Amino acid sequence: MWAGRFQKALDQKADDFNSSLRFDCRMYAQDIKGSMAHAAMLARQGILPQAEVDRIIDGLEGILHDLNEGKLAFDTGAEDIHMFVEAELTKRIGDAGKRLHTARSRNDQVALDIRLYLRDEAKKIVALIKETVKAVVDKAEESADIIAPAYTHLQRAQPISFGHQLMAYAMMLLRDIDRIQDGVKRMNFSPLGSCALAGTTYNTDRAFVAQRLGFDGVTANSIDGVSDRDFCLELMSAFSILMMHLSRFAEEIILWSSWEFKFVELDDSYTTGSSIMPQKKNPDMAELIRGKTGRVYGNLMALLTTLKGLPLAYNKDMQEDKEAIFDSLDTVTMCLEVLAPMVATMKINGENTYRAAQKGFINATDLADYLTKKGMPFRAAYKIVGQIVAECIAKDCVLDTYPLDEYKKHSELFTEDLYDEISLKTCVEKRNSEGGASPKSVREQIALVKKRLEAEELKEELQ
Ligand code: ARG
Repeated sequence: MWAGRFQKALDQKADDFNSSLRFDCRMYAQDIKGSMAHAAMLARQGILPQAEVDRIIDGLEGILHDLNEGKLAFDTGAEDIHMFVEAELTKRIGDAGKRLHTARSRNDQVALDIRLYLRDEAKKIVALIKETVKAVVDKAEESADIIAPAYTHLQRAQPISFGHQLMAYAMMLLRDIDRIQDGVKRMNFSPLGSCALAGTTYNTDRAFVAQRLGFDGVTANSIDGVSDRDFCLELMSAFSILMMHLSRFAEEIILWSSWEFKFVELDDSYTTGSSIMPQKKNPDMAELIRGKTGRVYGNLMALLTTLKGLPLAYNKDMQEDKEAIFDSLDTVTMCLEVLAPMVATMKINGENTYRAAQKGFINATDLADYLTKKGMPFRAAYKIVGQIVAECIAKDCVLDTYPLDEYKKHSELFTEDLYDEISLKTCVEKRNSEGGASPKSVREQIALVKKRLEAEELKEELQ
């Protein structure tokens, strides 16, 4: 490509080291579509004759078709996808191919390609998150009336509808969708026309290209246009937070499916056996989701570190953006593709969750509330209930069956109705405050999330 300036070819190892084709080839469709829009603009502005541009666009269409059909192989000797397409075009249509790069540089070209590529990929990730939300919501619907313990410090804290805990994850995932969509908003500006870094002396029409490619506008500074990778970082941050959510969920699924909990049983298709211990059913998929979270965080750190010391504008270091973000994309995709059906096929054992909720004095807060509702200040009630709990532990009793005369020794406010008030069913059903843990509240949350999902679908149809 740069034969004019050089007398010697690149050393083979240096050439391999320099080449990004093996990973940036996945942006071939975006690269070609970007070139088509650029060529159309060159004709429209009278920079290239229409007849030449027609040949360029025909040639590019042919290349796109052949790559889609697997009829054209990538030349691994090419430096990157941009060079490959240009060389192939020139091979096919001759000199006209050499004119495509007028008023453009690989620096704005690559910045354009990544934006186009990530915009497409972000949509796919959002669709996968939606599938996961649907699986979670269905499980929550199924388990709204199942009573389970909820934890703080991994100590039994208060009784809840099991669906309430699941819906917490639905809320996180909705925020993940918001974050990704928000990042795409800032990403959706075309850098093409920034050229190497300083724009161009040709009378280009950047807005025309931007509009053709579905951007909301053009970047306003040519140096920023070629050096900015914030949109990669934003997406990778959103992916990191998403993975943190998936990892917490995976961790709970791992705990819940252990013999110690036995709250859920994973379907055989999402578990593995042990090579030596015949009794084992291991939650490998959930563990891998938890494990792979590390590499998604790592990719974000890697790119932040790559960029932090770079003087403006383009530096070859920036080629490192792709492997990092592609790996994050692939990892997030795999995790979501496995998590959604794993949740959908997971069985919840309501008897075990109920049994676990019966132990651990999970209704102690409700007993304190009972006294408080009868007029005692909460702190005083809290102290009395603490003493009763200590007595019960010493005598190996539970609050639900502790005799009334024992209660009365602590306060005359205790009467027979306390037992109904602290039954698990009452405790859960009465937690009707907005966003609370009752089955009724869980159903309201489900309705809310379903509405949001429908709105998302409508938005997509309108696009
Ligand atoms: N393969 C390069 C990248 O991914 C394309 C841009 C090359 N530009 C340059 N001036 N060497 O960053």
